[in-house]
Order: sequence, then structure tokens, then C-alpha cells
Amino acid sequence: METVYDKKPTLRRFLITFSVFVLGLCLFSVPSLKWRHAESLYIYFFIILAAYIFNNLGTSLPTHVYFSFSEPIYIFAAVILNPLEQLIPIFLGCLFTEVVYNIKHKKNYPWYQITFNPSNIAFSNFIASLVFHALDVYLNVYVWGLFVSIFLAIIAFEFVNSLITSTAIAFLEEFSVIDLTVSTTSLSLVIPTTSNLVVSSILIWSYLNDFHLIAIVSLFSFFLVAGIYQKEGKLIQTRKEIVNALIETVGARDDYTKRHSMRVSELATLVAKEMKLPYRVVMNVEFSGMLHDLGKINFPDKAFTQKHIDHETWERIIKHPEVSKDIMDQLSDFGEVAGLVELHHERYDGSGYPEKMKGEEIPIEARILAVVDSFDAMTSHRTYRRAFPVEFALKEIKDYSGIAYDPNVVDAFLKVIERVLREIEERLEKEELTYRFSLKRYQ
Ligand SMILES: [Fe+2]
Repeated sequence: METVYDKKPTLRRFLITFSVFVLGLCLFSVPSLKWRHAESLYIYFFIILAAYIFNNLGTSLPTHVYFSFSEPIYIFAAVILNPLEQLIPIFLGCLFTEVVYNIKHKKNYPWYQITFNPSNIAFSNFIASLVFHALDVYLNVYVWGLFVSIFLAIIAFEFVNSLITSTAIAFLEEFSVIDLTVSTTSLSLVIPTTSNLVVSSILIWSYLNDFHLIAIVSLFSFFLVAGIYQKEGKLIQTRKEIVNALIETVGARDDYTKRHSMRVSELATLVAKEMKLPYRVVMNVEFSGMLHDLGKINFPDKAFTQKHIDHETWERIIKHPEVSKDIMDQLSDFGEVAGLVELHHERYDGSGYPEKMKGEEIPIEARILAVVDSFDAMTSHRTYRRAFPVEFALKEIKDYSGIAYDPNVVDAFLKVIERVLREIEERLEKEELTYRFSLKRYQ
């Protein structure tokens, strides 16, 4: 079976190189381990076990980055042990998590995918430990020195970890490493970082002062906080499920609209990526593409089947962006998407509806949807008319560039569609594409 790594050999090469590099570093660290000291062994064991337990309390953030609550444990290891010493217990604790996950979910991930995350964490923590020990030399004479050094070690960990993860994602999807690093280390990490600082500091301070009970109590409290965060992660999952439920609702009313919305979402996302828009905007495009025609569930039956419709039906048809918005407005979590679905029929020259917005006034997400929506509608078979040929649809889009459509969006769209068309033959043979219906028509 073909995997993502067959399609993205550069990603595979990156994962292998990085994992081998960190494994080499781990081997290099063996002589620095204090196997013979009972207390060191107890700490290694504690770190492995605690990393495993807290790793299982991780959650996904909106940016698709998996956030782990085991960070205070990592930072504890980075501070208590030296940079080389912490490598093996951290690597093993995380590897254990990955292997158990792999077995439990019957995933057949290749070895370099399993070792990538443990390698990433062990290496990021290696840098964090370097930062801590370098600073501690200067700052440990002050009471606050310990906390400042811990804080900067956490920042170093976050940054290196995010940079490595973003590099891997950039090989997989066509985002820029910088854009991803910025969006994954942005505000969404403030609360976890602060809580990591508090927990790490209490943990380290109580350990250094032999207050083991405080260390255990703070660890337990963090365990509870992590539980709350995990619930937060489930909410994000629920968000995706709501979108799927809504698109199924559309499908139950009119299967064409469901398929059209899925194609628009997929193609519009490609255009947004082609335009190198920020991650959040790309996500908005994906969701609003799925939900833009939600309001069509309000159509009378004849609106789906007839070309010539009466005035009253037409009035209801042109109201669908507002109906889409009214439905999405009920979900407070979808505020931005609600605003966008309302505007997918706005036109660049101000001749659209319902707000008659003009040019850059229209959000970029809605300007992208306008182009892709028209293209897909033109190249679709309907009960009342045959699909127009792709060449015709492309000519229409080009002719109306700067009039109905944003010229920059049209340029990006043309590049994307040319690439997609080139891939058709090959992708159709494999029978695995979401685009199957549309691509057959585009030929
Ligand atoms: Fe529409």
C-alpha cells in the first residue's frame, strides 16, 4: 500500500536523518550516565514513567500540533540532569508512549515515524538543558535566578520543538516553516507555557530542597489541570465533527450541494496555500468552503431541478448566504466562518450580494470562494443542464478577472488548476481521490 512517504520522499529523508542524528547523540551520552548510583537510577526511572503518563494526557491544539503535558517533566530532567544525561530517559519515556500507541491503535507506522517525536523532544530538551546550565552559572547566586533560567529553558524547548515539527509539516504540506513556527508558538501556547513554568518551578524547587511531598502534590495538581486541557482538545475534535454533521445535513437535502461544497473546500484550500496565506486563513477557507451553501437546505425542491424559476423562488435562492450565516451564528465557535459564508457571492466590482462589498473590502477567504465556487458550478452536470467544458469555465474566470473576481486569486487559481489537471490521469487510475467526480468532468 502506498504511504505518504512514497509521495513525499523528502519528508522520509528528513525524519530518518533527524532520528539517526538523535539516536547517535543518545549513544554518545551513554558514558555520562550514572548507572551505579541508586538515586540516579531512581530519577531515570521516574522520568521515563512520568513522561509516559503525562504524554497520554496530551491534546491537539487548533493548529494541528499535538501539545504534550509532559513538558514540566522534560524541563525537570533538563534541570536536574545535564544535557547529555537527560537524553536517554526522555527518549525512552516518549518512545514508550509512541510504541504503545502504535500497538493499541494497530498502526503500522514505519520506524522513523515512531522515533521522530521522541527524537524531537529529546533534542529540544537537550537545547533547553544547555540553555539552563549555561545561564545557571551566572544566575544561581540570585534567588530568582533559578526561575529565570527555567523560564528561558522552557522558551528554548518550545521554540526548538516547534521549529523541528514545523520543518516536518512543511515537507508534508506546502506551508512555510516560518509561518508554521509562528502560528504554533503563538498565543495559543501562552497558557500551557505559563502552567509549565509554574509546575516545573515547583517541581524543581521542591526536589532541590528535599520537599518531596510538595513535588508529588504539585504533580498531582498538574495531572488535574492536564485533564481539563484534554477536554479542551476534545472540543476541537467536536468542531470538526460539527462541520461534518452539517455537510451531511446538506447532503441529505441535496447530494449535489454536499459534493460541490467538499470540492470547493478542497480546491479553495489549495488556492489559499498557493497564495501563501497564513495558516488561520487557510483553515477558514477550508471550513467556509464546506459550509458556504448550507443555506440551500432552505430551498424549495424545484430550485434544485429547474432552470427557469419564478420570482418567489429566486428571492429565496439569493438569500442562501444569509441563511448559511444565520445557522452558523448559532455556534459561537464559528464566528469568523459565519461572516465568510455570508460573503461568498460578493463580487470584486461590488455587483454581488448581499452586502455589495467591493475589492479588498471583501475578506480574502470569500474572494477565493467566489472563484472556486463559480468554476465548480460551471463544470458540474445539473439535472437541467450539462456541464460546461473546463476551457469555457477557465475563459469565463479569466474574462471576469478584475470584474467579478480578484485578479490575484484568479492567478493563483489558474496555477492550481493547471497542476490539478496535470495530475488527473494518474490520480484517477488510483481510485483514491476525493476529486473523482469533479476531475472526471474536468478532462
Ligand atoms: Fe452559493
